[in-house]
Amino acid sequence: MSNANFKRQFPKWSELSPLLKFELIRFGGREARLAKALTIWDLRAIAKRRTPQGPFDYTDGAAETEVTLERARQAFLDLELRPNILQDVSEANTKIETLGEKFAMPVGIAPTGFTRMMHSEGEIAGARAAAKFGIPFTLSTLGTTSIEDVVMSAPDGSNWFQLYMWKDRDRSMALVERAKAAGVKNLMLTVDVPVAGARLRDVRNGLVVPPRLSAKTIIDAIPRPEWWMNFLTSPPITFASMTSWNGTVAELLDFMFDPSMTFDDLKWIRSQWDGTLTVKGIQTVEDAKRAAKCGVDAVLLSNHGGRQLDRAPVPLHLIAEVKKELKSDIEIHLDTGIMHGADILAALALGADFTYVGRAYLYGLMAGGQAGVERALEILQGQMIRNMKLLGVNSLDELEPKHVKILATHSGLGHLPK
Ligand SMILES: Cc1cc2nc3c(=O)[nH]c(=O)nc-3n(C[C@H](O)[C@H](O)[C@H](O)COP(=O)(O)O)c2cc1C
Repeated sequence: MSNANFKRQFPKWSELSPLLKFELIRFGGREARLAKALTIWDLRAIAKRRTPQGPFDYTDGAAETEVTLERARQAFLDLELRPNILQDVSEANTKIETLGEKFAMPVGIAPTGFTRMMHSEGEIAGARAAAKFGIPFTLSTLGTTSIEDVVMSAPDGSNWFQLYMWKDRDRSMALVERAKAAGVKNLMLTVDVPVAGARLRDVRNGLVVPPRLSAKTIIDAIPRPEWWMNFLTSPPITFASMTSWNGTVAELLDFMFDPSMTFDDLKWIRSQWDGTLTVKGIQTVEDAKRAAKCGVDAVLLSNHGGRQLDRAPVPLHLIAEVKKELKSDIEIHLDTGIMHGADILAALALGADFTYVGRAYLYGLMAGGQAGVERALEILQGQMIRNMKLLGVNSLDELEPKHVKILATHSGLGHLPK
């Protein structure tokens, strides 16, 4: 076959051999699987293949139409990042100080319930990965590992505790005492749960805790042997706060949550807890101001990952106004929708002091236990460092509102990768 634009020749071995440097082919195995994941969305795809539908949907899903989560994720894409060029960015790093502690990245692991249902390594995997990456881990009241076991498994980590105020105040405060005795420094009080959100996927899947072996789950187990093997050979699911539960997730949540809670309870908790106090689930400027008046150290702008009130505000859109009102009196934290390191940078540029990820770490956990959480954190950190350099900043405190322009928002179902 001749070609008019170059003269063909026989390949010479001396020219061919340098091109034949194949990387060692890695067969199967967790390491190879995780190395192929380049984004959090890739981890989600692996997680979906390896986890039964009930636990996967419990994690991935949100309330009702699920548009709240989709909007929060979309909001991070509907912005423009505005770089400064020709800056010396050779020293870019993601170090930060928050609530009086130094961390390697401006992101912590958000509290998540039922974590051992997603993967048998559960909270221990999250706490150890967080300690390794120098970021805080938050154990949920509905976590499936005790606070003592979390602290023992990651003694060098910053292990925080999230409280759901139960109807039974004595039992709530007994948990707070245990957290204090275990050395927890930051208590996170979640306040967006007077009642459980309607997580329709769980209802449709008939999700119960612990998962039961029905004909459907046995068929579902065939392509996911490792999950089931781990599940059947690890200790039964118990909770950070109680020994067992037999019923649906929604029933458990409604048993736990106290719809009579008010700002007076927040003040009361403040008077009982002498560590730092974060209030999680603030969704308006007005409530951020009221919480600040109760003496909290941080407000966490969050709509619970879209799992509570559907059509709730996008936390990213609240930051600037909350910052304007609260100035630097207390810290402003944010979660919901973070799937990329640049999402975290955008939140900080707009005025947030710290962020959390829920699903981003759980997709990693489901994809490969502790190694999967580490891969998720590695991906986020790599994305942060690269984007800081591209934006022309060396340290996080150089990020300013000028680096981000919020564009017209395009909300609606079906825009995001699946
Ligand atoms: C599976 C799952 C379980 C959760 N359980 C809790 C919980 O027990 N307590 C709580 O305060 N928030 C809980 N959340 C909300 C997270 O703490 C966090 O607000 C949310 O995941 C942030 O959104 P993201 O998943 O988009 O990062 C849970 C979220 C998920 C995905």
